[in-house]
Amino acid sequence: MYKIAVAGTGYVGLVAGVCFAERGHQVTCVDIDEKKVEVMKSGVSPIYEDGLEELMQKNYEAGRVDYTTDYQAAYKDADAVFIGVGTPEKADGSANLSYIATVARQIAESVEKDCLVVVKSTVPVGTNDKVEQFIQDFLTHDVRVEVASNPEFLAQGSAVHDTLHAERIIIGTESKWAEERLMSIYEPFGLPIVSVNRRSAEMIKYASNDFLALKISYMNDIANLCELVGADIQDVAKGMSFDQRIGNKFLNAGIGFGGSCFPKDTKALEYLARQNGYELKTVKAAIDVNKEQKLKLYNKASKRLITFDGLKVAVLGLTFKPGTDDLREAASLENVPLLLEQGADIYAFDPVGAGNFAKVYPEGRNGNGTITYVSNVEQALKDANVCFVFTEWGEVKALTPTSYKELMKTPLVFDGRNIYSVEEMKKAGVEYHSIGRET
Ligand code: UGA
Repeated sequence: MYKIAVAGTGYVGLVAGVCFAERGHQVTCVDIDEKKVEVMKSGVSPIYEDGLEELMQKNYEAGRVDYTTDYQAAYKDADAVFIGVGTPEKADGSANLSYIATVARQIAESVEKDCLVVVKSTVPVGTNDKVEQFIQDFLTHDVRVEVASNPEFLAQGSAVHDTLHAERIIIGTESKWAEERLMSIYEPFGLPIVSVNRRSAEMIKYASNDFLALKISYMNDIANLCELVGADIQDVAKGMSFDQRIGNKFLNAGIGFGGSCFPKDTKALEYLARQNGYELKTVKAAIDVNKEQKLKLYNKASKRLITFDGLKVAVLGLTFKPGTDDLREAASLENVPLLLEQGADIYAFDPVGAGNFAKVYPEGRNGNGTITYVSNVEQALKDANVCFVFTEWGEVKALTPTSYKELMKTPLVFDGRNIYSVEEMKKAGVEYHSIGRET
């Protein structure tokens, strides 16, 4: 059992901290936000994530996890400090490392015994060398501090499961001491560990995320071509997926990738390449395809309709994917403003993301149009002239073609997630437009 501190209680930090506690370690999660700390102490998760609250409560009651703003107390005698703070995108596409730097300095000024600092945040290759130097520069006690890279591969919506049952743990270290300590922290997880040097570990994170982003953009590119030549992207994906070299995951064409990771990490790697005098053409292409794909539904609908002015528009799903209330880089954020500008009266449904969306687009009048948030899919569809599907929530997937036909005034559906059968929609009398499939 190790004494672990975790800096940052976002998706990465909080989930890691609670999962370390679940595997028997003594964990203190540190955040600068006092209100957030109080909320977490009361057993409430500040993020929407399946199964997290139960684990928070269980481990808090067992005394294995605690939350604090007092970083000094948390870091001073920790065996390891995991850094899970954000590395948001800067205007030029590079990663903003100021939160990492702040935490690194706090660690340097607090640690009173040998400590392994483990960076979980996604950082450009080479950053951890600098973090280690930075900590050495500011160390106030004569103790051994080394930095390891331990990138995170959890996906939002399945974060707890992805952490406890990860397909692999990547650890990047520069000494036997660091490697052994990190390996033994992960021993209770019983998962495969890949041990490499620090720079390779940093690169594995970007290379993995960008490969997945590429896979999605590739399928979207092929889907767009399918539409032009009369092929069906879902059948094409199915046929491809039997080849184990291709695999059967992340082949779903749609309205592009969103979220806090792929958009940011593709740009960051492309930026890193440019900084090193190299043009990363594949990743650049993935970014370009994604940009266009986000507006695919709006562009299709604009070709079909003269105007959205005065039309009742049902919007099903606002988040960048189901299982999260996160709206970052969601296609809805690009399409809804265009619909409002055109005078649409939007009825939006999202089981958990509506509150966040309403912070950007409050209920009522927004420019030329209006937006109303409804609590079920039927209310959104009732008497609607047109429907957009942006997120494949369970409630949306459960809708039948006949329910669209019966509820909508004019059953015209633009589905960005290819949820329904083209044939069944046609049979039910619904005009159905999806991605990469016959209309
Ligand atoms: C992603 C990775 O999947 C995680 O492995 C990684 O740890 C994480 O980023 C991160 O770096 O923190 P996440 O952004 O939560 O996780 O979500 P994904 O499930 O990967 O989906 C990203 C986007 O791609 C969503 O908008 C989703 O709708 C889209 N997508 C995904 C597709 O359009 N098609 C697919 O086949 C799969």
